Amino acid sequence: MLKSIAVMTSGGDSPGMNAAARAVARTALYEGVRVWGISDGYQGLIEERLRELESKDVGDIIQRGGTFLGTARCEQWQTPEGRRLGYENLIQRGIEGLCVIGGDGSLRGAQRLSEEYGFPIVGLPGTIDNDVWGMDYTIGCDTAANTIIDAINKLRDTASAHRRVIVLEVMGRNCGWLALVSGISGGAEYIIVPEEEFDLRQITDSLSEAYERGKRYILIVVAEGAARGQDVCDYIAQHTDIETRVSVLGHIQRGGAPSVIDRVRASQLGEQAALSLISGLSGVVFGYSNGHVVSVNLYDAVNNKKKLDPEYLRLAKVLC
Ligand code: F6P
Repeated sequence: MLKSIAVMTSGGDSPGMNAAARAVARTALYEGVRVWGISDGYQGLIEERLRELESKDVGDIIQRGGTFLGTARCEQWQTPEGRRLGYENLIQRGIEGLCVIGGDGSLRGAQRLSEEYGFPIVGLPGTIDNDVWGMDYTIGCDTAANTIIDAINKLRDTASAHRRVIVLEVMGRNCGWLALVSGISGGAEYIIVPEEEFDLRQITDSLSEAYERGKRYILIVVAEGAARGQDVCDYIAQHTDIETRVSVLGHIQRGGAPSVIDRVRASQLGEQAALSLISGLSGVVFGYSNGHVVSVNLYDAVNNKKKLDPEYLRLAKVLC
């Protein structure tokens, strides 16, 4: 049984990270295990920004977006020297296991620490992108998708009023999950994702026909990793007479109070991560698949690329 563990959030923040860190801390304390919070991800670990947590330190945070621990993208962690400093800072404090809450890159950083030093690590998928292999849910993706839908609803009102095309660019550097799911559930006419080829000419021809038939608005959701919203907008404006506008949602979709789903799932995953670390099971990432908690090998999680659900892709083709 481990006697002292630590938790950090890393990479882009996501709604529900607080709920996950809170669950890790409270589960450890419940089990009589000491727990440390690391500020600002790997950067804070290297720079020794660690503090021991008590139960009250994680009070009043489950409802907040962002992360009370702070987060960062850390260049220094890419170097062996940076990882050595981080490892030593854990060992010096008697910390025996680490829970890393973050996306693809953060979990890759955790895998390297585990590989190089044999340090016990459990990962939790914290990213709005929902791009971690081996699971169909990551902490924060539900809240972000709901934020996007809210934007789509509002954009449709104004698009329809002016008979315009509106292009909405959403996050997702390498993964189109957010665009796909919010496009389907927001009723977008076209969805553009990095995983699928698209033909702007074909889209433009088909939306022009729709306008000729009397359509009052078109909403196109584009993932940033597939194309710049502005470029899509410019193309349509140049090739049609239809008034076209672009809206880039940006970091608004990363913030906000987490949804019920994100709070509950993050809490369950946090508990699972703490129990696993404490009992000596490490080198895994806990996530959700088909409504159940699953554990995925950490190496596999970071060395495989997640694909978009073909069922969602098919649904989008049929409905959009
Ligand atoms: O990795 C999550 C993510 O939200 C991506 O979808 C997006 O491209 C990126 O973070 C933005 O990162 P930053 O906040 O560092 O600009």
